[in-house]
Amino acid sequence: MPLLICQDAPYAALRLADIIEQAILENPRLTLGLATGRTSAAAYAELVARHHQNTELAFRQVTTFNTDEFVPLAATHRMSARYLMNYRLFRHVDIKLENTYIPHGDAVDLAAECRAYEAMLQARGGLDLVVLGLGHNGHVGFNEPGSSAKSRTRVVEFTNSTLAALSDGYRFQSLEETPRRAITMGLGTILAAKHILLIATGVSKAHAVHRMFDCRPGPSVPASLLLQHPNLTMIIDADAASHIAELPQDTVYIP
Ligand code: GLP
Repeated sequence: MPLLICQDAPYAALRLADIIEQAILENPRLTLGLATGRTSAAAYAELVARHHQNTELAFRQVTTFNTDEFVPLAATHRMSARYLMNYRLFRHVDIKLENTYIPHGDAVDLAAECRAYEAMLQARGGLDLVVLGLGHNGHVGFNEPGSSAKSRTRVVEFTNSTLAALSDGYRFQSLEETPRRAITMGLGTILAAKHILLIATGVSKAHAVHRMFDCRPGPSVPASLLLQHPNLTMIIDADAASHIAELPQDTVYIP
């Protein structure tokens, strides 16, 4: 697995944008899985800028599936994945909105919504590339510790550490207004992607990154289950790398 260590978070976002851009240029009909966190948001801003500079970087035929959505947030809620993705990326490029899939967090029948999402993804032939952020407790999407490598799209309850992270003022202003649940793409769904890109920046992710590499892979650190994937690329910055005891062989420092 290539582990790319960049000097800082902005640089890591640029490298993430490079890989997504290259994938779209190589396959204009790419099916792309997307995370909503702030780490990936910086890469999306870069892609928007590049799209306006380079007419070849077209999203017209790209299909996207976001990894998660808060329950019970409606698309109009300013912290919903749908709202943020529209605002940060979809509105600024030539993607067809009907080809951007995000679970409906306010669906009346959540189980049916999860089944429909999974079916839609399978009907599109699965993910070519999926971009993932890393949660402080090692979650990806919202596959919290304990998630199975075979899990599919489903409703999950947040752990206390995720609730604490989500209510830190960046996403939600207080614990009271923080949703307790989400619909998330499962680890099995993610592991079926052809290429997985995992990004983590900042010292707040250092512990999760350390556990991913220095502990035995297992469901207690869901991101560690991605290490079994034959085509995983991880991009981190120096701060996120600062607690790793033993770097993987395939580590590249990007100065
Ligand atoms: C949560 C979200 C992901 C996001 C990750 C990292 O897990 N479900 O979509 O990528 O957090 O978020 P951030 O980059 O804001 O730290």
